[in-house]
Amino acid sequence: MKELTLTNKVQTKDDKEKQSLLANAGEIPEHIAIIMDGNGRWAKKKGSIRLHGHKVGVDSVRDITEACAQLGVKYLTLYAFSTENWGRPTAEVRGLMRLLVASLRKEADNLHENDIKLVTIGQMDRFPADCQDELQEAIDLTAGNNRLQLCLALSYSGRWDITEAVKKIARHVDAGRLDPELINDQMITDHLSTANVPDPDLIIRTSGEYRISNFLLWQLAYSELYITERYWPDFRRDQLYEAIESFQQRDRRFGKIKNGEDENANNSRLHKN
Ligand code: IPE
Ligand code: IPE
Ligand code: MG
Repeated sequence: MKELTLTNKVQTKDDKEKQSLLANAGEIPEHIAIIMDGNGRWAKKKGSIRLHGHKVGVDSVRDITEACAQLGVKYLTLYAFSTENWGRPTAEVRGLMRLLVASLRKEADNLHENDIKLVTIGQMDRFPADCQDELQEAIDLTAGNNRLQLCLALSYSGRWDITEAVKKIARHVDAGRLDPELINDQMITDHLSTANVPDPDLIIRTSGEYRISNFLLWQLAYSELYITERYWPDFRRDQLYEAIESFQQRDRRFGKIKNGEDENANNSRLHKN
């Protein structure tokens, strides 16, 4: 397979080794979702303005995206801007929008060359026209790619996502096309903005906050959570490997019990003996 060049750095031997150890140690999550938090605090700690934190955060996005593609992660969903983030000072919101446009302009070809498909979830129509255009161009350019799907959650919230799904389903009912009794889990899943994407296996949150902040509320039902104290601009591939290592040690039971721990099965064996 073609070498990845997203960070414009040749992958070191040491990094290749770390990745192959990780791949041999257990399962690589198919879908990783990240709440990229702490840019502002990172910048303040350095005596800089919040926007500087967001800028360095883009370098983390590049590094994490490249490492995920190299590891064979199929879906990477990044929480970049929440519905509630519109409530921040106008200057910060504008700065974030400008950064988004500039990053997309710079990275779109790069994503394409690396066979990465860019998609978004969220209320894109709330974004300024130049942002929407830049995003659409990158989405169209990369639409046929399939090494990794990079999804940016922009003006996204879990409650918005569920509300929209409910509206769509209600319209089917209203038009007489759907019996409400037939509404089930799968139908709701299929009407969310993430339809056709498997639920995240691993959700990472940086900056040490133990909350979900309105991210993929429906989709995270059985996701493994990993929270690190690190701020997002300091979260790079070595920290990603630690998160995946932690994931590999989890026992995902999905509400059931572990194989071989069925006491009744043991009992019936005992009775037989
Ligand atoms: C995350 O960093 C980026 C966005 C939410 C856009 P923050 O901007 O929330 O940084 P902190 O959490 O205030 O440090
Ligand atoms: C969550 O971070 C949203 C994003 C990372 C885009 P916030 O900084 O907005 O969340 P709270 O305010 O700490 O819950
Ligand atoms: Mg924050």
